[in-house]
Amino acid sequence: MPLPTSKPAGRPLVIAHRGYSGVAPEHTLRSYELADQAGADYLEQDLQMTSDGVLVVMHDSTCDRTLREKDGTPCRGEVIRHTLAELRVLDAGRWFNERNPDRARDEYIGLKVPTLEEVFITFGHSARYYIETKNPEEAPGMEEELLRLLRAYKLTDQVESPPRVILQSFSSESLRKLHALDPSLFLVQLLDEVEQEGVEALMMEIAEYANGIGPHSTSVDEKVVLAAHDAGLVVHPYTVNDPEEMRRLQRIGIDGFFTDYTPLALRTLEAGV
Ligand code: G3P
Ligand code: CA
Repeated sequence: MPLPTSKPAGRPLVIAHRGYSGVAPEHTLRSYELADQAGADYLEQDLQMTSDGVLVVMHDSTCDRTLREKDGTPCRGEVIRHTLAELRVLDAGRWFNERNPDRARDEYIGLKVPTLEEVFITFGHSARYYIETKNPEEAPGMEEELLRLLRAYKLTDQVESPPRVILQSFSSESLRKLHALDPSLFLVQLLDEVEQEGVEALMMEIAEYANGIGPHSTSVDEKVVLAAHDAGLVVHPYTVNDPEEMRRLQRIGIDGFFTDYTPLALRTLEAGV
């Protein structure tokens, strides 16, 4: 039986890693808009929680790297020690221009950290979401709040294929909790590396609560793909920006991958192996 997200477009799914983050500040609405316009199958969100319990979309647990005060001073400290109001006055785009002068754009200055709700309001049902619970052990209630928002925006209807929403985490505890809260959620277990030894048993264990794996791309080979598929799991490696690596993964039968460069990925996959 075909796996539920297996190549609906006749090619692996393209997951816009932090949006079109190769050319725009990661996890800003602009980055998502560019990825969406380029034809990404999924927009990825990494979740952090503020001190007042709001889910915001940021990769790092601290604000130092991607947030700046108006005068350019880097923000300091953990996201979970800041209120939403404190984060929203900060600039989430300026760092990108500083770090990437060749890709800098004036329009990136002044971009804000989006809340997850704002992402749902902006894109609604016109996009698919691939949402990661980050550091969930530091943010009790993250899973419940995520599910509340998904339900409020009617995004938990999983009859679609591929699903409107995929949830991912490195934390098996977080995924098991989500599975217990709603067994119909489509879940992906992220993995740093996949050891060849015992890979079949690992896949069977993950299949108890999840629908796929998201391994680091360099640890994925035919054996891993076969073991995952035999266990009924899709394989979505991260983060793939090199066309040769995209073609290798396509040849060995992966079901999708994360990339910072959606247009490059689509061009490469559509050209075939
Ligand atoms: O979620 C897949 C990939 O994004 C994991 O790496 O650190 O970019 O969240 P990271
Ligand atoms: Ca991620």
